[in-house]
Amino acid sequence: MISVAIDGPSGAGKSTLAKQLAVELGFIYVDTGAMYRSIGLYGMRKEIDIKDPVQVEGVLSEINISLAFQEGTQHIYLNNEDVSEKVRAEQAGMAASVVAQQPAVRQFLLELQRDMAEKNNILMDGRDIGTVVLPNATVKIYLTASVEARANRRYKELQEKGNPETFEKVKKDIEERDWQDMNREISPLKKAADAVEVDTSALNLQQSFDVLLDLIRQKANL
Ligand code: DC
Repeated sequence: MISVAIDGPSGAGKSTLAKQLAVELGFIYVDTGAMYRSIGLYGMRKEIDIKDPVQVEGVLSEINISLAFQEGTQHIYLNNEDVSEKVRAEQAGMAASVVAQQPAVRQFLLELQRDMAEKNNILMDGRDIGTVVLPNATVKIYLTASVEARANRRYKELQEKGNPETFEKVKKDIEERDWQDMNREISPLKKAADAVEVDTSALNLQQSFDVLLDLIRQKANL
């Protein structure tokens, strides 16, 4: 099986690019961030204290997460409910970043993620794919961009959706999320020693796509 691991900070374009690359290559796209977001969402709905690892661990056995590719797009199911849209909310992202610090949550998802990679050619994106989940991935990419560039993209996206967030607030949220993801004790975000770093600060989506596709084809001999 061929596996492509794409890691990097939030807002670098990972999921948009990974989705398109998976379609181009005919691989299954595994959005691990959406899995952490689903657990965050479940905890919020249950009104437990998601900062308390004991309470979160206590509800893991109630959670079933699955992915399905339908009508050209990837969907994520939380206990058979399609939560693809709901997990994109800022609140679910922040909740994901909190529960992602907890060892029981990471272990729970690690098994699910490895299982998916054993059965399919996959393109998986996240924070610890090349370092922890798939240390023997065929291709490892560390996708990054400056805080300014990432905040700019996110700000534009939110404006298009009619969200009144200020640029400063968007930037601050990104910095906070970076800090949380890079400084947690377990599986922090970092570049794997054998990953190729791609900085998209000065590239548009099409240019980023072309760079990544070339890289994957070359490394995986496709
Ligand atoms: O990529 P994203 O914004 O959807 O991820 C949401 C949060 O989940 C992110 O802040 C960190 C966490 N995460 C993680 O710890 N490990 C992963 N492999 C993917 C996401």
